[in-house]
Amino acid sequence: MTSSPAARPIGVFDSGIGGLSVLQALRHELPHEHFVYLADSGNAPYGDAKGDAFVQQRTLAIAGFLRQRHGIKALVVACNTATAAAVEQLRAAMPDLPVIGVEPALKPAAACSQTHHVGVLATRGTVSSARFARLRNDHSARTHFAVQACDGLARAIEQSTEEPLPATASTEKIRALCAQYTGALGSFGLKTGDIDTLVLGCTHYVFAKDLLRALVGPDVQLIDTGAAVARQTRRILTQAGTLAPEQAPDGQPAAPGPVQLYTTGQLVALQAAADRWLGLPAQCCAALPVA
Ligand code: DGL
Repeated sequence: MTSSPAARPIGVFDSGIGGLSVLQALRHELPHEHFVYLADSGNAPYGDAKGDAFVQQRTLAIAGFLRQRHGIKALVVACNTATAAAVEQLRAAMPDLPVIGVEPALKPAAACSQTHHVGVLATRGTVSSARFARLRNDHSARTHFAVQACDGLARAIEQSTEEPLPATASTEKIRALCAQYTGALGSFGLKTGDIDTLVLGCTHYVFAKDLLRALVGPDVQLIDTGAAVARQTRRILTQAGTLAPEQAPDGQPAAPGPVQLYTTGQLVALQAAADRWLGLPAQCCAALPVA
């Protein structure tokens, strides 16, 4: 473990490979940082039926692992479900660790919707949480939110990385679930009463964006939180004085930071996802039986 705080890695975790969508945004915003990502795919999905106590226990165990083994300087909880269930306990248990959570982007969606009808897709765990109820309440003054729990969708996206491409069957399953859940929200478009803004309230769903776009049409805005979370991470590190230097000692731009990825699930699935979505080589990935 390195002793200089700026040189220490940023930890990122999700129930599985969904948080790689947040890692993409983090690497774009903070290219010189060292990232250690943990996909808890052996326990995914968190959001359909696992319950808060389980998600809290996993969140604390993973944060403990990333601190002890990697000396992380901050932790990005790249999972809406884990943020909703466990971020308060995590902050209470590790008050000296800067923690950045993710939550469905209701505020920016309400700000940009012209029809004041916003659709929200998220896990059952997220939409039934007290944290989500507060968030919805805070932004409901002028905006109607149609909210849909998407049982099975994160799991189907996980499974799509567990089989070789072309994965036609899993793509069809994801498409069918997306069609079912967007269909349940109402009509999409720019007319009065239409949903003109769709919040992707689970980090896995970003990887179904093209399918969702085809279903809701070109006029609907799809909003996820990756870029906002990355900017927030930059702010937190800047305040703490632990941002990695953007210049090398010789004045040249610093080299891109390394990325290490772990999974508690199938190594080949993480390797496929890392290659497909981040262009990272298989050697970046390792299996971790228990975190
Ligand atoms: N990616 C997660 C989220 O943002 C959860 C998916 C799951 O494990 O249910 O909510």
